[in-house]
Amino acid sequence: MAKPLMGRAREVIEKAKIRYQGKVVGTVASMDPQREAENYSECFVRDFVPCALVFLMDGDFEPVKQFLRTVMHIRNQQYVMAGHTRAEGLMPASFKVTEQDGKQQLIADFGERAIGRVAPVDSAMWWMILLHAYVQFSGDRDFADDPQVQQTIRAILSLYLQESFETSPAMLVPDGSFMIDRRMGVYGHPLEIQSLFYGMLFTAEKYLAPGNDQSLLEQVQKRRRALRTYVRLFYWLDKPRLNEIHRYRSEQFGPDAENLLNIYPASIPVWLDGWFPADGGYFVGNLGPGRMDFRYFSLGNMLAVSFGLATDEQADKLMRLHEHRWMDLIGEMPVKICYPAISGTQWQLLTGCDPKNVAWSYHNGGHWPCLLWPFAAAALRTGRRDLAQQAYSQAIHSVDEDRWQEYYDGKTGALIGRRSNAFQVWTAAAIVLTQLMFERENDVVFSGLFTHQ
Ligand code: GLC
Repeated sequence: MAKPLMGRAREVIEKAKIRYQGKVVGTVASMDPQREAENYSECFVRDFVPCALVFLMDGDFEPVKQFLRTVMHIRNQQYVMAGHTRAEGLMPASFKVTEQDGKQQLIADFGERAIGRVAPVDSAMWWMILLHAYVQFSGDRDFADDPQVQQTIRAILSLYLQESFETSPAMLVPDGSFMIDRRMGVYGHPLEIQSLFYGMLFTAEKYLAPGNDQSLLEQVQKRRRALRTYVRLFYWLDKPRLNEIHRYRSEQFGPDAENLLNIYPASIPVWLDGWFPADGGYFVGNLGPGRMDFRYFSLGNMLAVSFGLATDEQADKLMRLHEHRWMDLIGEMPVKICYPAISGTQWQLLTGCDPKNVAWSYHNGGHWPCLLWPFAAAALRTGRRDLAQQAYSQAIHSVDEDRWQEYYDGKTGALIGRRSNAFQVWTAAAIVLTQLMFERENDVVFSGLFTHQ
């Protein structure tokens, strides 16, 4: 008899485990023998997160601890590009275990084995967030207090809190520095980075040993609060706010300017006209001087809810938006990565004519089953189990039969991605994790993980 769905999903995770000196330290990104690219056989920091949460919920803490240790240790393997070395707070995008003369070696990738040498800005943030999850589930506070871990937290903070050229509390990053790791016009202050930054600062606040560096802790607290106020006010978009922007006066000077960032009403895209239900809203994708990227990006929005960056009212409105715009944002295979897709000249200019990111494909409006768990976590936190369940039942309808695809194409995500890998590990992990979240919705430990203030 064929194994039930959960058994088959767990089998994908089990087979994906990477071992170093006999211990599990991660999982490969894809188990597809015909993988789209060589580096899918590595352990990506962001891809490991849902696997780690499955292990933690199973009470299997060791692989997560080993992963945190491994990534912490290989952080010093940075390559030098044109004589340029980078800060030690940066963490790799991925790593692999190689073997030579019977000796195993861990090899990190900081973007040199990725297309375009993109910077993995999100890695250290996921590492910190996972550290919080690990301590929360295992109760192993000693690990967070370990001097090496403390030193790593400090190294990360010294890089991520460094003053650069921001004019707001939001973090400034180059294009393709997170899950969307190709040029997509997501440079500047993308929402996903702000949500992760918020989650990371929360962890730092919690685990940074007071020591004699009180000022660092104060800096973390101040930045987190400022970021929260800024995102809640300036990234939020709903019908009343759209009306305000539509009627904005521009080119105002001085501290009393209402249109602080000088957003020109003519930049409001036509698709937004009539798109909002009365009680729905979302955080826009990016914000900067004279620039509001009105695109909807799901992961940043969902994490904003899970980490408490969104107010309760904003979280409710976000869920209602999904209810009303289900086919646009969830479609047939949950969840759409961003809406709408860019095409024509916009696609040419923002992606540099990237054929993998043509309209309604891959990062450009494609559907990613791995995004099911952040959606379900946000929905559960908002009391919308119904929406989480609806998305879940749609996903399990074909995800297994389709062989655990990485992504889907088309406006409603009904087509298997043109260059998608099969047996993508975070796809299987998202299904298992979502099922576990349903079973343990009221688990204090779990809600402790996501109810950041
Ligand atoms: C692609 C995705 C990236 C993911 C990697 C491994 O590069 O864009 O987010 O981490 O594949 O699955």
